[in-house]
Amino acid sequence: MIAAVKNMYHTNSDRVSVLVEKRYRELFREDLDQGFCDQLIQLYLHPEAFDAKDFKGYDLKTILQYLRITHNYYLDSRLPEIEQTIGQLTLSNAPTPLVKRVVLFFSAYRTKLHQHIEKEEKGILNHVENVLRGENGDKTIVEDFLKEHDDIDSILTYVNELLSTEYLEQNMSLISLLSAQIELLMIDLYIHGRVEEEVFIPKVLNYFTEK
Ligand SMILES: [Fe+2]
Ligand SMILES: [Fe+2]
Repeated sequence: MIAAVKNMYHTNSDRVSVLVEKRYRELFREDLDQGFCDQLIQLYLHPEAFDAKDFKGYDLKTILQYLRITHNYYLDSRLPEIEQTIGQLTLSNAPTPLVKRVVLFFSAYRTKLHQHIEKEEKGILNHVENVLRGENGDKTIVEDFLKEHDDIDSILTYVNELLSTEYLEQNMSLISLLSAQIELLMIDLYIHGRVEEEVFIPKVLNYFTEK
């Protein structure tokens, strides 16, 4: 995954930088610490520079907020945006083998992402929220999360490879738009996943111990 992200950054840094700042500022507004928001924007432009130590100064509540806001954002904005482009691609052309494969794989990916997020929301995130309200922490929930937390990017990487290796003459602009939308989601999920495992979980364990 890191190789794919590095590659994206080097090939698409201009279009990424234009979109990212606007999207993140709009998404977080006053709901998230602005320093945290600035750091995320910088990371988007340089995902390979991710370092969990940079998040040391933020409290558990802020990290939890970030995870919840972005979960909703992926499901309510990013997935529909990609699906809309796939829909346009399907309508504008007799479905080619490439389009058929993209539709198939993306539909499988959509289900997988929904399940992944639902499991986190109902499991670890709800538990941590209850602990922040005063309940006792349960380490087995954290251990189960780490054991089962899977890579949700492999199908997306594959879809994007399909798009970049095959050529669709009549719909180049749509293919290019779809590829950019998928790349943005991949970078987002890459940062999100690393925050979950390398920032959130250590802070949760620390909070359980100190409580
Ligand atoms: Fe998540
Ligand atoms: Fe996750």
